Amino acid sequence: MRRAIYPGSFDPPHNGHLDVLRRAARLFDEVIVAVALNEQKAALFTVEERVAMLTECTRDLTNIRVASFHGLLVEFAREQGAIALIRGLRAVSDFEFELQMSLMNRKLIPTIETVFLTPIEQSTYLSSRIVKEIALLGGAVSDFVPACVAVALKAKLQSSAPRQP
Ligand code: PNS
Repeated sequence: MRRAIYPGSFDPPHNGHLDVLRRAARLFDEVIVAVALNEQKAALFTVEERVAMLTECTRDLTNIRVASFHGLLVEFAREQGAIALIRGLRAVSDFEFELQMSLMNRKLIPTIETVFLTPIEQSTYLSSRIVKEIALLGGAVSDFVPACVAVALKAKLQSSAPRQP
C-alpha cells in the first residue's frame, strides 16, 4: 500500500487544494488529507469544521481519508505508514518555503519523500487567505471553493459579524 499524506491548514479548503488532492489520489493507493492543528496560527474554522468540510467535498474519492494531527508532520506520517508528503506548488514564490520544509522533513525522517504537485492553471492564484478576504468583504467565492465550503464560509462570517449598535 503506497500511502501519502497531504497536509495543510485548509482554512478553508479551496478548489486548488482539491485539484492537487485528485492528482495525488491518482498516484497513490491512499491519500490522507491531514489538517494541522497549529495553536500559533489563528484560524477561522475549527479543526473539526475543516475535517467536516474536507470529508464532504471528497465523498466521491474512494481512496481518500481525512484526519487531523498535531505535532510533527513527519511523525504523523510515520505513524500512518506513509511514504510521501504531498505539497502543492502554485508559483515560484511558494518554492523557497516549501524547499526548506521538505529538506527539514527529510532530515527528520529520510525515508519520507515530499512530492510537489502543481494545480490546474486556473487555481494558481487561489489561497485560503484570499478566499477568506473576499468572503469577508462580501464577494462571491463560489468559483473558488466547493459548494459546502461556500455555505460554511457564509454561515461562519454571519455568525461572527459584529452586531450593529
Ligand atoms: O497549509 P499550510 O499552512 O501551508 O500547511 C503548513 C503545514 C501544516 C504543512 C506545516 O506547517 C506543518 O507541517 N506543520 C506541522 C508541524 C511540523 O511538522 N513542522 C515542521 C515542518 S518542517
